[in-house]
Amino acid sequence: MYLCPSTMCLDFDNLEESVKQLDKLDIDIFHNDIMDGNFVPNITLGLNDLKTIRNATDKLIDAHLMITNPKDKVDWFIECGVDIIYIHPEAGDGTLETLKHVKENMVAAGIAINPETTIEQIEYLLDECDYVMIMSVHPGFAGQRFIEDVMPKIEELGNLKEKYNFRLMLDGACSPDKIRQCNKLGVDGFVLGTSALFKQNRPYEQIIPELRKLGK
Ligand code: DX5
Ligand code: ZN
Repeated sequence: MYLCPSTMCLDFDNLEESVKQLDKLDIDIFHNDIMDGNFVPNITLGLNDLKTIRNATDKLIDAHLMITNPKDKVDWFIECGVDIIYIHPEAGDGTLETLKHVKENMVAAGIAINPETTIEQIEYLLDECDYVMIMSVHPGFAGQRFIEDVMPKIEELGNLKEKYNFRLMLDGACSPDKIRQCNKLGVDGFVLGTSALFKQNRPYEQIIPELRKLGK
């Protein structure tokens, strides 16, 4: 199971230090939310933040691109040295070509799909996906409620994993209960935000081993 702390929840006054603090723990991928204020109603990390994060850890880092027309900007993120790039197929055309382009540059490619997006709409992309990330909240903000309507999609994509050979990830309100439940349905990795890791008034050192025990 991949544990993926969401860096938008870190202390940005001490970004480097807060990455290093988590880097020492048993986590797998730093999850970086890139929001452009257009595709989603919020603006978060930029390229300089990503570079700071890249330089502070040798663990995998991703870029979850919540930006309009990602195909025009994906090279910026490849150049930052991220290990995985997630593209929203809802954000513009050319998703299939963009996934191929990312992989040609030796970066893992994935799609992130909004709660309303159906499997029928994205099945043609699955052959090119190293990762598929299901959004269980509307992208834009931490601290929202889990959208239960995505549960059937989680189960269905869990059943398609072997056929298409991708890793299944979940982003949005991943609480310990949801992690346990969805890992059983085939979800391989979870974005950790305020529902599991941050604002818990307990040290990360205590929380991470507990989350680790929830899945395989
Ligand atoms: C959006 C983000 C958020 C968030 C997850 O793409 O990745 O979903 O940080 O954390 P919580 O647990 O606050 O929803
Ligand atoms: Zn995200």
